[in-house]
Amino acid sequence: MKNIVLIGFMGTGKTSTGRLLSSRIGYSFVDTDYRIEQAAGMTVAEMFAQYGESYFREKETEMIQRVARYRQAVISTGGGVVLQAENMKALRQNGLIVSLHAEVDVILERTGRRNIRPLLQQKNCREVVLELLKSRRALYDAADLCIDTSVLTPLQVVGKIIDRMKKEGELRA
Ligand code: S3P
Repeated sequence: MKNIVLIGFMGTGKTSTGRLLSSRIGYSFVDTDYRIEQAAGMTVAEMFAQYGESYFREKETEMIQRVARYRQAVISTGGGVVLQAENMKALRQNGLIVSLHAEVDVILERTGRRNIRPLLQQKNCREVVLELLKSRRALYDAADLCIDTSVLTPLQVVGKIIDRMKKEGELRA
């Protein structure tokens, strides 16, 4: 059975959806940012501050290459995972790629609750988000399934993913 790989911008619900989905279908749950933090002994924010974004991206790619080999896992990724083609190539090999989207206001509201994202530590957050979304849109859209989570609960999002898995024969109907 394929892994379910959740991609999408910050604040689109990858972690909450992933955790719930994994418990519903009995797959293991992997949050790549969390794994990177555990391996490095520091938070993503600390990594950005001390070593810069490119160092984090290297660690991210290393972690992706590792978890892409898992079986029956729900893999929740960081929003920038799509930036390196090798990440998506590895994840696609044994994964159904599910892209979560949300409207800008929803993203700002959700990410504003816990302001820990290094890329959003600026006053003009809306412009930063709009700019990043614009540059990444096509990468997020190149998924097997795209879901706008703006007005959906995690349970509803999970329901849509499960429906798709059944259609693909990845889960018993
Ligand atoms: C990033 C998203 C973050 C984290 C890092 C960079 C991005 O993950 O990987 O701060 O480039 O969009 P979340 O999408 O889980 O917030």
